Amino acid sequence: MDFHEVAQKAINDMPPSTRFRPEDAEIIKAHANLILPLAGEFVTGFYDTLFAHEPTRAVFEEGERAEREKTLGEFLAHVVNGPHDDKFFAWLAFVGPVHVVRQVSNPMMLAMLDYLVLFVMKKFSGHENAEKITEAFIRLAATLGAIISYGYEVAWQEALQNVVGMPPALVQRMVHEEAQQMFPLRSHG
Ligand code: HEM
Repeated sequence: MDFHEVAQKAINDMPPSTRFRPEDAEIIKAHANLILPLAGEFVTGFYDTLFAHEPTRAVFEEGERAEREKTLGEFLAHVVNGPHDDKFFAWLAFVGPVHVVRQVSNPMMLAMLDYLVLFVMKKFSGHENAEKITEAFIRLAATLGAIISYGYEVAWQEALQNVVGMPPALVQRMVHEEAQQMFPLRSHG
């Protein structure tokens, strides 16, 4: 799996106005002094949310929380400080499959990206740049969601290809044909 390619494909599929842009990175970085001190609260709330819900709590092993909190804190610092380069986006394509291995579902992932946006929205409510900051995080979350969920999909496909031992193009064609049978479009009769 080529993580650079996965990230680029996911980003290219997004209409440009919905993608995370350099201006978004700038506005986030410009408010780093306000965002970074909130990292502890952000991380604690994130894992309190996951541990309060049985399906998400079940993902974690005994004694794992501290390590996970550390990783998420580092993730937030990277998001705020950058650099938001190809390497960063390729790394996110790797974060998707990391979660596949732990059986974290895409609904779980996407819900927690929303947690990120809501957290920022609430914290910056009333701030003079609230709108710009919120928009930057919305585009960030959309881009992360696109890359992570696409990375997840590709990891699944590749795992399936390995299991059934078929060439990728053939598996994709068969899956597409099967999907057409299962969910016939109304316009196709
Ligand atoms: C906003 C969504 C999320 C982000 C940005 C995120 C980010 C990350 C990152 C950066 C890592 C470390 C990857 C590495 O090894 O370098 C990680 C690992 C992990 N995450 Fe998440 N995560 C998210 C949601 C979730 C959710 C919803 C769960 C569980 C319900 C979860 C459970 C885990 C676990 C168990 C690991 C450890 C994987 C391993 O190395 O065994 N994550 N996450």
